[in-house]
Amino acid sequence: MELARPSKRTNGAGVQVEDTQICVVMVGLPARGKSLIAQKAQRYLRWLSIDAKVFNVGNYRRSDTPHPTAEFFDTSNAEGERMRRAAAEAAVTDMLKWFREGGLIGILDATNSTKERRRWIKERMDKNGIETLYVESKCDDEDLIMSNILEVKTTSPDYVGQDPEEAAQDFRNRIRNYEKVYQTIDQDESDMTYLKIMDVGKQVIINRIQDYLQSRVVYYLMNLHIKPRSIWLSRHGESEYNLGGQIGGDADLSARGQEYAKLLPELVRKSVGDDRPLTVWTSTLKRTIQTARHLPKHYNQLQWKALDELDSGVCDGMTYAEIKEAYPEDFAARDDDKYNYRYRGGESYRDVVIRLEPIIMELERSEDILIVTHQAVLRCIYAYFMKKDQRSSPWLNVPLHTLIKLTPRAYGTVEEFTSSGISAVSTWRGQGSVAKHEDPTSATVSLGTAGDGEVAKA
Ligand code: ATP
Ligand code: F6P
Repeated sequence: MELARPSKRTNGAGVQVEDTQICVVMVGLPARGKSLIAQKAQRYLRWLSIDAKVFNVGNYRRSDTPHPTAEFFDTSNAEGERMRRAAAEAAVTDMLKWFREGGLIGILDATNSTKERRRWIKERMDKNGIETLYVESKCDDEDLIMSNILEVKTTSPDYVGQDPEEAAQDFRNRIRNYEKVYQTIDQDESDMTYLKIMDVGKQVIINRIQDYLQSRVVYYLMNLHIKPRSIWLSRHGESEYNLGGQIGGDADLSARGQEYAKLLPELVRKSVGDDRPLTVWTSTLKRTIQTARHLPKHYNQLQWKALDELDSGVCDGMTYAEIKEAYPEDFAARDDDKYNYRYRGGESYRDVVIRLEPIIMELERSEDILIVTHQAVLRCIYAYFMKKDQRSSPWLNVPLHTLIKLTPRAYGTVEEFTSSGISAVSTWRGQGSVAKHEDPTSATVSLGTAGDGEVAKA
C-alpha cells in the first residue's frame, strides 16, 4: 500500500526543501557503537530542527524478553529468531507510522547483520517512497570491543542486577552468536546507498549517496571520533557594553574583564593540565580576542566569524529598555518566541544555529578546544552538547567570568564549572524584564540542569 506523503517542508533555515524522508539503517555486530552513532545523529539533526527519531529494536525486544541470555541470539534457536523478527517488525511498523505523520529521518538501531534482513527493510521503505541509507560500523579491535562491553553493555537493562563479569562473558557469547551469521556490506549490495565506517573512522567507504540530506548525515557521521577529549567554553570578560546593559557592539573589556583575561591562563592550566595541546577559538570581536590574549603562545589560536555574537540589527548598541521603548512589538515578539525571533536587519537564534553548523562539525573532528565566545553563541553550542531544546536554550543563564568544561562520554556529556571569583554584572534577562542587570538566581533555566533528550540503551 502506498502511503500519503507529507507535503513540502522547510529546513532549519526556513528554506523549502525536497520532501526526502530517509531511513538510516544501522548495521554491525554488538558493541560497535551503533547506538551511540544513532543517538548522536538524532541529537545533531534535532539541533538543526530536522525531525529525527531513533527506533531501537532492543527496546522492542525487551518488552517480551527483558533479560535474555546469549542462547536467545543463537540463530538455531527458533523461538529466539521468531521473537527477534517480531521486534524488528514492530520497530519498522512504528517507524513507518512516524514517517506518515511527517517524520524526516528515522534511524533503525539494530544489528541488521544479514543481507536478507537489510533487503527486507529496504523493500518496506521502497514501497513507502522512503530512501534507505545503511550505516555500518565495522571494528575488529578486540581491546576496544572489550572496553565497549565493560563501559556500556554490563550496565545495559539486559543485565540489571547481574554480576558485571558474568554479564561481560554472556555479552561476548552473544557476539559470537551474531558472528556466525553476520554479513558485512560488500559488492553484492553495491546498488545500495551506504556508509561503511571501519575502525572508528580510520577508513570510510561511501556508496551511492543520493541527495543533500543524505550527504549531510554522512558527512557528520564521518567526522565522529571517540578519543577522550574535552571542550572548554567561556564567554569573553565583562565588556564596557555589559556595564551599561547595551547589547551587541564591539566594545573593549572593562577593568574587571581585563582581570578575567589575565586570570584565564591559570584557570585553563588548572583544568586542562600542562601537557595537553589546546586549540583556542575566538570570535572576530575585540572582547573575545582581548580575553584570549594572555593565553600561552604555544596554544594555536583561530578567529571565527561564525562565533561572533548574534547580530541584533537595528537594536545593536541599545539597552533592553531602549528596545522596548523603540520597538515594543518586536520586544514582545522576541519574548514570545525567542528562538525564532529575528532582529530587524539582524539574526535569530535559529540563524545562529545554522551558521554554527561548521563549528559543530569541526568540533566533532577535533580534540581539546577552548572556545571564547558570546552569550547567545555559547547557549547554542551548549544546547547541542547538552540536548537543550529550542524553547529553553535562548533563556539559559551563562554567567560571565566562568570556565565551563564539557566532556563527551558514551551516552551524554559531563559538565564542570569553574568560577574565576572575579565579579561581573549579570547580562541575563528574564522574560518580560528590561532590567539592565537582573538577578539570575531567579532563572528557571540555568546551565547545569538536566537535558531534555532521552537515551535508548541497546
Ligand atoms: P548493540 O548491538 O549491543 O546495541 P552497539 O553497536 O549499539 O551495540 P553501543 O552501545 O553504541 O554499541 O556501544 C557504545 C560504545 O562503542 C561506546 O563505548 C563507544 O565509545 C564505542 N564506539 C563508538 N563508535 C564506535 C565505532 N565506530 N566502533 C567501535 N566502537 C565505537
Ligand atoms: O548582553 C550581552 C549579549 O552578548 C549581547 O551582545 C547580545 O545581544 C545578548 O547578550 C544575547 O542575549 P539575549 O539573546 O538574551 O538578548
